[in-house]
Amino acid sequence: MPHAKPRQIVIDTDPGIDDAIGILLALASPEFSIRGMTTVAGNIGLETTTRNASRLLAFAGQEDIPVLVGAAAPLSRPGPEPLNLHGKDGIGGVDLLDPVRQPENQSAVEWLADLLLSVPASTVDVLALGPLTNIARLILEKPAAAKRIGRIIAMGGVIHEAGNVGPRSEFNLWADPEAAAVVVPSGLPLVLVPLDVTRRVRATREFAQALRAAGKPLATMVADLIESYFETKTHQESRPLHDPCVMLFALAPELFRLEDLRLTVNTGSSEEAGALTIDEKGKLVQVAMGVEGPAVLDLLAAKLTAI
Ligand code: BDR
Ligand code: CA
Repeated sequence: MPHAKPRQIVIDTDPGIDDAIGILLALASPEFSIRGMTTVAGNIGLETTTRNASRLLAFAGQEDIPVLVGAAAPLSRPGPEPLNLHGKDGIGGVDLLDPVRQPENQSAVEWLADLLLSVPASTVDVLALGPLTNIARLILEKPAAAKRIGRIIAMGGVIHEAGNVGPRSEFNLWADPEAAAVVVPSGLPLVLVPLDVTRRVRATREFAQALRAAGKPLATMVADLIESYFETKTHQESRPLHDPCVMLFALAPELFRLEDLRLTVNTGSSEEAGALTIDEKGKLVQVAMGVEGPAVLDLLAAKLTAI
């Protein structure tokens, strides 16, 4: 059977250990043609997330993919403190060389708008792994370009469970609730992948060992990343692979269960900031609410060990 044409994607990201795993999965997947990576402050400051994006491309030998510098701070509030879950360098101190190629001079939003206007409408998807600041700015500043996005698949939010930074708040939406409150009701095709699903896709130390045993460079790097992810949580038996779920959904939507939910975003300054509420006044959004955890882990391992 002939292979389908690769889907064009842009990865918007704040690497981040789990971002890094998602990026390496995308780089290992011929189903994607990665047009560029746009960076955002989140897990750690913008300079570091940008450098990490470039270092990952250099490691994978794919520095032909451009890196575009995005937002250093949320739309209208001070940036969050680094989470301390991802180490001083944001990606757990794994051994990555400095990149050769520098980030482009154009801003992430300008570049994204030019890209979207230069290709047929609906042919580029945005895979969003961090706070939604860049995408919100695109919608606000370049609405005609934003309308041409095929689909936004975003790791963010929590629906029925406890949050990871507030009682009902997940980090990416909490870090820039005003941006989330632009993107969620925008009417653009959006799939949210919340903690309710990403907490069910968990890497154990054994999973990391199996990746390492394959003796392949990307799989070994992901094993290092997973092991570093345990460093701040030594008592845990497994760690959630939040951001890779975005790529896994794009690769194998049949392994996820989607629900159409009307959602609003809390933009208060309380600990509820970024919280999602199911509300009949909210905009209809597709939300991944179920996942076949073992099957998506098998897919992740298969992709990383194939090259
Ligand atoms: C999200 O927050 C970040 O720490 C992770 O990279 C992920 O994008 C999970 O809440
Ligand atoms: Ca992230």
